[in-house]
Amino acid sequence: MNANAPSPSGQRREKVVLVTGAGGEMGHGLISALAAAGRAIVAMDIRELDAEVREHCRSAYVGDICDPGLMERLHAQYEVAEIFHLAALLSTRGEFAPETAHHVNVGGTLNLLRLAAEQARSHGQRVKFMFPSSIAAYGLPSLDEKRRHPVVGEDQFPHPHTMYGVNKRAGEELGRYYQDHYRKLAKDRLAHPIDFRSIRFPGIVSSETVPSGGTSDYGPEMIHAVAQGKAYECFVRPDTRIPFMTMPEAIDALLRLAAAPKERLSRTVYNVSAFSPTAADFERLARAAFPGASVRFVPDLGRQAIVDSWPEECDDSAARRDWGWTPTYTFETAFERYLLPKVRARYAGAMA
Ligand code: SER
Repeated sequence: MNANAPSPSGQRREKVVLVTGAGGEMGHGLISALAAAGRAIVAMDIRELDAEVREHCRSAYVGDICDPGLMERLHAQYEVAEIFHLAALLSTRGEFAPETAHHVNVGGTLNLLRLAAEQARSHGQRVKFMFPSSIAAYGLPSLDEKRRHPVVGEDQFPHPHTMYGVNKRAGEELGRYYQDHYRKLAKDRLAHPIDFRSIRFPGIVSSETVPSGGTSDYGPEMIHAVAQGKAYECFVRPDTRIPFMTMPEAIDALLRLAAAPKERLSRTVYNVSAFSPTAADFERLARAAFPGASVRFVPDLGRQAIVDSWPEECDDSAARRDWGWTPTYTFETAFERYLLPKVRARYAGAMA
């Protein structure tokens, strides 16, 4: 990397990793891991960051990924070596405002890809672009089809039912285009300005944060509710099955894929799998851990249909082969060793 890239003001720009959606669930875990690795982080979020996230960052911008002026400021100020583009509007929220979801999820991604390409042109090195995609990128046409295909590979069922899923598919394809074909016909073209890497994450369960606006939220919501002694109404049927993983596993996957030698990567988009519990499995372990927990199943037909269009399990053999992906936990050990100790400690006061 050319550490001497001048800024428009004639000063050197600082070499940083840019994290969008830094205040979200994944941002919390990722930023502490990047800071522990000694990286200089520039964070962006639409809201002010929590103090414990902010303290790990060199700078934090409150702003919109759709704002081209903000991109220009970042471009002028920093030498961006790597981008973790986490900002997105999730699948449930997106169905209430699909055009807004498209604007943020696709328009924002396009702005960041463009920033990455301009950065590469200015400092002469490829910019690594990490893009969390989702199981929402799949679209199983019916519950029967879902049951007939219990394990789904990356190239199957590419027609998502939600705007969020459509947007994630678009992001995957835009990333591939910027990496391999951007400005194909331009005379002054810089070939391969970015190194694009994406993971289709399953539902993610964190002991630290509760998700909002997603459709896999029933798993983590149930655990956090019962740990606080609150009754929980689960919005999907007990037999609903999709893949999940813990937040530390998701962060580990992102960092492992980011660190993999490019020549080992046979694809731009990878599945990763850990465990695939039913909603009833969540209830069973939640009740075992918190006897007397109140969980009722009150399916919401719309949200149920979304989850029914997502696979029961994903084939992650390419991730295992290419960059050594292995999950840390089974569903049971995720509860025993990660979730329960941490949520118990977190809500100790609430249960007293
Ligand atoms: N957790 C996401 C959602 O529910 C799926 O990637 O929208």
